[in-house]
Amino acid sequence: MHIAVLGGDGIGPEVTAQAVKALRAVAANGPQFEMTEAKIGDAAYDTTGDPLPEATAQLAEKADAILFGAAGTYESDLRPPAQRGGHGLLRLRKRMDLFANFRPVFAFPELIGASTLRREAIEGVDLVVLRELTGDIYFGTPRGIHVENGERVGINTMRYSESEVRRVAHAGFKAAQKRRKKLCSVDKANVLETSLLWREVVTQVGLEYPDVELKHEYVDAMAMLLVRKPREFDVIVTGNIFGDILSDAAAMLTGSIGMLPSASLNAESRGLFEPVHGSAPDIAGKDIANPLASILSAAMMLRHSLNKPEMADRVESAVRRVLAEGYRTADIMEEGATLLGTDAMGDAVAREIARLTH
Ligand code: IPM
Ligand code: MG
Repeated sequence: MHIAVLGGDGIGPEVTAQAVKALRAVAANGPQFEMTEAKIGDAAYDTTGDPLPEATAQLAEKADAILFGAAGTYESDLRPPAQRGGHGLLRLRKRMDLFANFRPVFAFPELIGASTLRREAIEGVDLVVLRELTGDIYFGTPRGIHVENGERVGINTMRYSESEVRRVAHAGFKAAQKRRKKLCSVDKANVLETSLLWREVVTQVGLEYPDVELKHEYVDAMAMLLVRKPREFDVIVTGNIFGDILSDAAAMLTGSIGMLPSASLNAESRGLFEPVHGSAPDIAGKDIANPLASILSAAMMLRHSLNKPEMADRVESAVRRVLAEGYRTADIMEEGATLLGTDAMGDAVAREIARLTH
């Protein structure tokens, strides 16, 4: 099986390297995964002038799965949108039609103390944000900055077609069926037509899943409910921009955004697997970033695209054990725990995987 490894920018390469270690360890007894690295984001722009070079896109399309780090830096934020590192990632998502972005939020019992929220609120949290990833205001046209009546006007277009909503709704109901059978759809139907259509289509699709309990929330209320009673939620399905914002907020339920993995899948369950945290250029190269989100993304890859659920279990168990042994990176550090750098945390997880493998 062939994996495209796109480390990208900032802390992307260093955390991805730890996920690669985990993949090597988990396959130690059998055939190894074939892994090929390629550049994306600013790392690619700096050498080729394009944040998604054609060679990288083709490698990603041919691979059985993509392990992705992060894209974008502070410098690239100053360039026009199409030349920014993050744009390379957006184009890859669109080009491969990776519309279903699963961001599981699981409160590890060992990390409850690392959250800024109170134990009573977050203990037992186990939810998934399913973010639509290839539509909405991210890709709608018209867009741009124009001059009108002597001043500049910025324009973006929120847009969803019925078929785009329908397919992500199906993905949401199916995910809920495999879990606690609750789906909460998030929109802003009290204000936006896009959301009115979204709500109507999700409700219609729901008729095909009588075993799943469907609820709707407005996005502003949802932001509040996520921190007030997050345990109530099982699967949350929402559009691209609402999902971007809500998933960062949901990350804090786990103690650190450094713990959050994600899977972006297309209709054939081929996909891109990336930590939710992004490039964090301020801590890049310092060996302090938390690699667990990347390692857990590799586990999602084993489960969702490579059909190796038992290997995925082993990687996840290894992460649990390392946390239980009291090892922490700086973002989740607590009194009495042992502080590890990025590389040493990757080694610790690989060691546990090896123990579980032999
Ligand atoms: C994310 C990120 C990206 C997004 C950026 C890097 C373009 O914030 O994956 O959540 O907005 O989708
Ligand atoms: Mg984001």
